[in-house]
Amino acid sequence: MTVAIQDDIGARNSMVRGGGVPEWDARARVEWLRNQIDRHDRLYHVMDSPEITDAEFDALLRELRALESDRPDLITANSPTQRVGGAPAEGFTEVAHLRPMLSLGNAFDDAELMAWHRRTASLLETDEFDMVCELKYDGLAVALMYENGEFTRGATRGNGAVGEDVTSNLRTVKSIPLRLTGSQVPELLEVRGEVYFPKSKFHEFNAKRVAEGLPAYVNPRNTAAGSLRQLDPRLTAQRPLDIFVYSIGVHSEGRHTMGAADAPSTQWEALDLLRQLGFKTSPNNMRFSTIHEVIDWYRHWREAVRELDYDCDGLVVKVDRLDYQQHLGDVGREPRWAIAYKFPAEQATTWLNDVRFNVGRTGSINPYAVLEPVYVGGATVRQATLHNEDYIRSRNLRIGDKVVVERAGEVIPQVVRALPSERGCSDTYITMPRVCPSCDEPVTRIADEAMSYCRNASCPAQLVRLIEHFVSKGAMDIEGLGIKQGRALIEAGHLRDAGDLYSLTERRDALIDMDRMAEKSVDNLLSAIEQSKSRPLSRILVALGINFVGSEVADLLARNFGSMDALQEAEEESLVSINGIGPKIAKSVVEYFGRPSNREVLDKLRAAGVNMTEETAPGAEGTPLEGLRFVVTGRLPNYSRSAIQGRIKELGGAVSVSVSSKTNYMVAGEGGGSKLADAEKHEVTILSEDEFEQLVLDLFRRNLHIELPLSPENS
Ligand code: IVH
Repeated sequence: MTVAIQDDIGARNSMVRGGGVPEWDARARVEWLRNQIDRHDRLYHVMDSPEITDAEFDALLRELRALESDRPDLITANSPTQRVGGAPAEGFTEVAHLRPMLSLGNAFDDAELMAWHRRTASLLETDEFDMVCELKYDGLAVALMYENGEFTRGATRGNGAVGEDVTSNLRTVKSIPLRLTGSQVPELLEVRGEVYFPKSKFHEFNAKRVAEGLPAYVNPRNTAAGSLRQLDPRLTAQRPLDIFVYSIGVHSEGRHTMGAADAPSTQWEALDLLRQLGFKTSPNNMRFSTIHEVIDWYRHWREAVRELDYDCDGLVVKVDRLDYQQHLGDVGREPRWAIAYKFPAEQATTWLNDVRFNVGRTGSINPYAVLEPVYVGGATVRQATLHNEDYIRSRNLRIGDKVVVERAGEVIPQVVRALPSERGCSDTYITMPRVCPSCDEPVTRIADEAMSYCRNASCPAQLVRLIEHFVSKGAMDIEGLGIKQGRALIEAGHLRDAGDLYSLTERRDALIDMDRMAEKSVDNLLSAIEQSKSRPLSRILVALGINFVGSEVADLLARNFGSMDALQEAEEESLVSINGIGPKIAKSVVEYFGRPSNREVLDKLRAAGVNMTEETAPGAEGTPLEGLRFVVTGRLPNYSRSAIQGRIKELGGAVSVSVSSKTNYMVAGEGGGSKLADAEKHEVTILSEDEFEQLVLDLFRRNLHIELPLSPENS
């Protein structure tokens, strides 16, 4: 095999050197080279079993580059020469996922896993079902779209419904095939997987940075995420990212060259198909029929995981049969057919040097430990949460103790317990403060809550935290207002709540007079504040700091209500009718808007002209339902009413309450009522939930667009 290739390379190289290559030959040669390069890329990066040397591989690539530079008309976006990064982008376009990318429920011990298994068996009315066990890779989830076997779009998970288009960056990941192989290539395929930064490469990469005098990155996960979100794909190309794919999001029934390309009917078959198509799947996937085998497998990996060259934080256990998965469905944003069985968080021991208290933005008094720095779970930990007084008492913690510290993924590190046998004689009892460490107002503890609170509505520490949160990246993203400046503005009386940020322009001169506020930085800050006025509603909702409203919930609220005015008037009942919003969140939202001081803040934002609406559709090109108007009626099997409405809007469609001559489709479930008759009168096509999903796919396929941007150096 190797010899044949070498001979061939030699012969062809002399042809290229010897002057023009005939048209038919150039085209065929380019195609041949691409197939060879794709194959060897796959052997090297996916199967880990190269058949040729690096030098031989480079020769193939060089020849292809030479031919393509002679004949730019032959360049295609998915040629292997196009991996190395196109032009930098200005920002990322939003992409609505054709099917939502869900999260996973967790089990932390055998009992929880077995409870999941029992629940599943009872819903399926049998305990005879296989389960596929996969590792839970700790990287960044992506969705890869292939149209007629060509990689056409790659997106981040984002909030699960809408992600960011990072196609150019994903093209630089060598283990992602740009063209699919094998006889079972479907017309449309969306594959899901986790991009990661291999640990060994991460250490090399960091060592090089440090040698160059650059700061080291904290851990592979964050660096992988940062690399994928680089605006310049040439930078991403320098990071040796890798991927494991773990599921099929969308599969059309398929076009085939030989044999049939039936969609798989189990997760196991799906993994098999993915491998045949040229994707990198994990060699550690297993299929079991009893939960005891799953537990044994977990016990093995709980220890063995350390030897892997990538981070994993647990096992994912999935019901194998896809029809069973469909039957089990989802609750909220988690499927009932899968669960993550988490590995215990990494622990380390260190000294508890001190306990201090800070005031949260809700006034909670939060005790935290000041630790002798210790490396655990991929980062150096200097502080850890102690949660509340009960937590400290139940663990009988003392200052001066040797303590066990734990850190898992993105979770805040915590002190798990003390090691009293190692307690020195300098131990000090921990007392909770009786007055707020910031404003000296008495601290109160509510009867059935573990937290203590400062109830002073104008407590400066609360406001500092709130402003810090308000201006942060995921919220209003106002640059130039660090915690020090925030504190100074509050102390000088310029800020009494977040709404006052928007009248700071009127105080420009006073700001410039402040210590350490140069004219230029004041103007930069004022312009950043001005720019933030156009952020979408979802960002303001995050910024307000409503309890339990993080970015995903904020997105849901913004998409469903469209404006602050509508949300402000919403009752708990209409909030809980949204898929993904439970009673706790609904109560917190209603309470927030009920408080006069919060309404005052909103009035200030409105008066300053801050945008309070959200475009309900992402407006990305190629959204399949663009230009179509839907009416939804009756109870659908899987979607709640508002979830399907949200979905239609995400995919570019419009939703109306009643049928008119402008209605294109009605999605109807059980008990559709009089609207069904209206639909018939207007001859509107009525769809079941399944037919709706099919329509989305069909329309998406109709827009198949395999024209892709070329890299500037070749175009
Ligand atoms: S399946 C619907 N399989 O875990 C089930 N996810 O918490 C979710 N992840 O966003 C996808 N390894 O980023 C699945 N083998 C695996 C996984 C995996 C890691 C991540 C994925 C997802 C998150 C859900």
